[in-house]
Amino acid sequence: MEFEQIRQLFDDYVTPNYVRNPIAFLRGQGSQIWDTRGNRYVDLMPGWGTTVLGHCHPRVVTAVQRQAGMLLHTDNTFYIPLQGELARQISRHSFGGKCFFCNSGAEAIEAAIKLARLHKQEQNRYKIVTMLDSFHGRTMGAITATGQEKYHKGYLPLVPGFSHVPMNDLAALEQAVDEQTCAVIVEPVQGEGGVNPADPDYMAGLRALCNERGLLLILDEVQTGMGRTGEWFAYQHYGIEPDIMTLAKALGSGVAIGAMVAQPEVAESLSAGTHASTFGGNPLACAAGLATFRTIEDEGLLATCRETSEYLFGRLNQMAERLSIVREVRGRGMMCGMELERGAEAVFRYCLQQRVRVNYTHQTVVRLLPAINVPRDLLDEGLSMLQEALEKAERGEI
Ligand SMILES: Cc1ncc(COP(=O)(O)O)c(C=O)c1O
Repeated sequence: MEFEQIRQLFDDYVTPNYVRNPIAFLRGQGSQIWDTRGNRYVDLMPGWGTTVLGHCHPRVVTAVQRQAGMLLHTDNTFYIPLQGELARQISRHSFGGKCFFCNSGAEAIEAAIKLARLHKQEQNRYKIVTMLDSFHGRTMGAITATGQEKYHKGYLPLVPGFSHVPMNDLAALEQAVDEQTCAVIVEPVQGEGGVNPADPDYMAGLRALCNERGLLLILDEVQTGMGRTGEWFAYQHYGIEPDIMTLAKALGSGVAIGAMVAQPEVAESLSAGTHASTFGGNPLACAAGLATFRTIEDEGLLATCRETSEYLFGRLNQMAERLSIVREVRGRGMMCGMELERGAEAVFRYCLQQRVRVNYTHQTVVRLLPAINVPRDLLDEGLSMLQEALEKAERGEI
């Protein structure tokens, strides 16, 4: 099908709630992707952070194909062998928790909000504090948790009981908490909010405050989880553990799956009938999740991520030294943000024209979420184009 025909279908039949670029991708392999016109792109933002192993990793493809031919879906009123095995992998690689499966990041956040309230209901604690500039998804609970007003517009009234404080400000958090607060939600590295890492002291203080005041610490690892930052989960850089963690994006390498993981004593509050999802943890999604775990483990990709990250941040910092348009380079592992004086969108558009895919957020931050196994030559190709775009933006040419 020609691109114009595809666009027409969208104009006629698809809701207009996305800003879409005039390109349709047909095929991907690793850190490269091809459009309907046959153009090939270097993809430094594969699947918006979902395809952590690059497009169509052969082990994930094989696992999904095998499972598709055997059993696509059964429901959660029966036991699903792969779901149990995936829960074991998540638990074993994190803090020994129990998993509830769903289909997206927002659903994982909804589950975490519900569990926090359920677990603390006897103490009449229902309030939840989250961070300014956070992003937790687009369902009503998730937008309420999201500390950015632009996502609330037109949807009032929001869910009661939420407040927002600046990240990395423990005093503000202490003030916001009262005897009716049940939980705090934090992204260890804010993604959509501009790639803002939590300070180590803040995370330690946060854990101590939650312990002191009887609060559940919910870490949203939807974007940071599954090796993205060079550990399985970003909290592992901080030497603390959450009470609840949310996952999605990279968990299925591009197949829709989300999970909420809770410390066993907290998870017990989700008794039979208190929460559910028709598709959550079905055999197909869990096959993709298991293949993702096994590939990261067998191919030693956490170490690969850390090594490539050092190189990547080295190159980004060199650009920052040479170019005054770059204010700051932030992030961890394969999660990078470049704060610019201006023109992040122009940089994104120029790179896309030159067939390199990056992303921008908040108009001033260029964001990269490359696959953790991105080959060095493709990374170099992408970074050279990024540098060219930044130089042009500095000279006011784009
Ligand atoms: C940290 C975080 N939480 C939650 C979400 C929502 O995930 P989904 O779009 O799968 O609902 C996102 C999506 O970008 C995210 O980055």
